[in-house]
Amino acid sequence: MIKVGGSLGDDMSRACADIAALVGQGSSVVVVHGGGAESDRVARELGRPPRYLTARDGRRSRYTDAAALDALTLGMLGRVKPPLVVELLRLGVRAVGLSGVDGGLVTARRTPPARVVLDGEPRVVRDDLSGRITSVDPHLVRTLLAGGYTPVVSPPALDPEVGPLNVDADRFAARLAVALDADWLIVLSNVPGLLRDPDDPSSLVAEVPCDDLTAHLELAGGRMKVKLRSAGEARLAGVPHVVLADGRGPSPVLAARAGTGTTFVGGAA
Ligand SMILES: Nc1ncnc2c1ncn2[C@@H]1O[C@H](COP(=O)(O)OP(=O)(O)O)[C@@H](O)[C@H]1O
Ligand SMILES: [Mg+2]
Repeated sequence: MIKVGGSLGDDMSRACADIAALVGQGSSVVVVHGGGAESDRVARELGRPPRYLTARDGRRSRYTDAAALDALTLGMLGRVKPPLVVELLRLGVRAVGLSGVDGGLVTARRTPPARVVLDGEPRVVRDDLSGRITSVDPHLVRTLLAGGYTPVVSPPALDPEVGPLNVDADRFAARLAVALDADWLIVLSNVPGLLRDPDDPSSLVAEVPCDDLTAHLELAGGRMKVKLRSAGEARLAGVPHVVLADGRGPSPVLAARAGTGTTFVGGAA
């Protein structure tokens, strides 16, 4: 399982050559991608710039009303996924793009109404279309892999009672890795891994023991926290090799497999 972060922008396709090499060797590879930044760009182009809400615990997240979900879907499925699929095809990989909605792959439950601060005003938000993953049905992905295809997957997920929902792409990759009994979860982003000091790229934390995740969470800013939590959960749920690594280098997947980045150790695996 290889997750390429939206923060990588055009660098997202750097992983494609490695993916082609792995597929060429007979490995089954599933690609998950994010695309928050591109979706924000789409939202701005449509004249409805992204809005953020702050929860009571201080956590900031994207306010996903219907217009924002539309921009997110256009960004993920219309802008980010096609070039990845095209690049993989060019390299001889039979890539297939799909979302968590397709084939009932990823099911989520909508976040309940919450008291938040939106545009500086306290409010109860009831129309947020984001949620938490409740289950993964990997049947479609397994079918594609068995047929020699390489799935390229992203949010949204589906709440059967609401419709498509925005879910976090790192969680999405982690849950899919667990459901597929993946040997590897490699999360590529625009940083070398977890840094002790986010402004110092040489301050890499090489190993995170899963039984000491809480202490490491304190090192991480909001978006890195989600990565740590979901990666730690994947390792505890039995994924043997879990790594957060840099996606910007020339051979990012092979470098991560060779041990560069932040590796999760301990736990059940
Ligand atoms: N301790 C930390 N170590 C590394 N990155 C951190 C840390 N704290 C916060 N970050 C931020 O997390 C970002 C990665 O998350 P994000 O932007 O969501 O990437 P992606 O698009 O790959 O999911 C980094 O670019 C960095 O700004
Ligand atoms: Mg992110």
